Amino acid sequence: MLVSSCWARISSRTCFWAELIRYAHGRAAARTLSIIKPDATRRDLTGQINARFEAAGLRIVAQRRLQLTRPQAEAFYAVHKERPFYRSLCEFMTSGPVVVQVLEGENAIAKNREVMGATDPAKADPGTIRKDFAESIEANSAHGSDAPETAAYEIPFFFAEVDIVG
Ligand code: CMP
Repeated sequence: MLVSSCWARISSRTCFWAELIRYAHGRAAARTLSIIKPDATRRDLTGQINARFEAAGLRIVAQRRLQLTRPQAEAFYAVHKERPFYRSLCEFMTSGPVVVQVLEGENAIAKNREVMGATDPAKADPGTIRKDFAESIEANSAHGSDAPETAAYEIPFFFAEVDIVG
């Protein structure tokens, strides 16, 4: 009797913590950082791109239009520092305004990547943002975090928690 009541208490606490961890992970995974790139803002495609996010169930919970500085672009894309396209990418990302945003929804990271399509528009599926709007593999209209760890770096790069209103 005593053993079984102790076990019930332990297992209910374990369940509580397991639930809490699952909940916290779910919340972290439910947000992603998106950037509407200079090639898209130049052609006034922000509204059309945002409509696709919203139609896919991705709510825009924070958004700001800004001009990236060279140090900001270099820091944001630091992970690509050794890649041959790094310099050109930073040049492109500072060539005009961008719209940075936080998207929230179920499986936000994967969903956003599905809506954007492959990095190279030539390989993107029909109906995706990059297939329909991108000019090249570099000027590919949109950026989205590729993993929860990336989102955890990229979201605070632009937004404080108080700026994000779900
Ligand atoms: P993004 O999703 O923002 O992540 C890194 C960016 O680098 C990518 O989109 C493209 O804009 C750019 N990129 C990736 N591969 C290449 C490439 N082979 N040549 C030029 N730019 C690239």
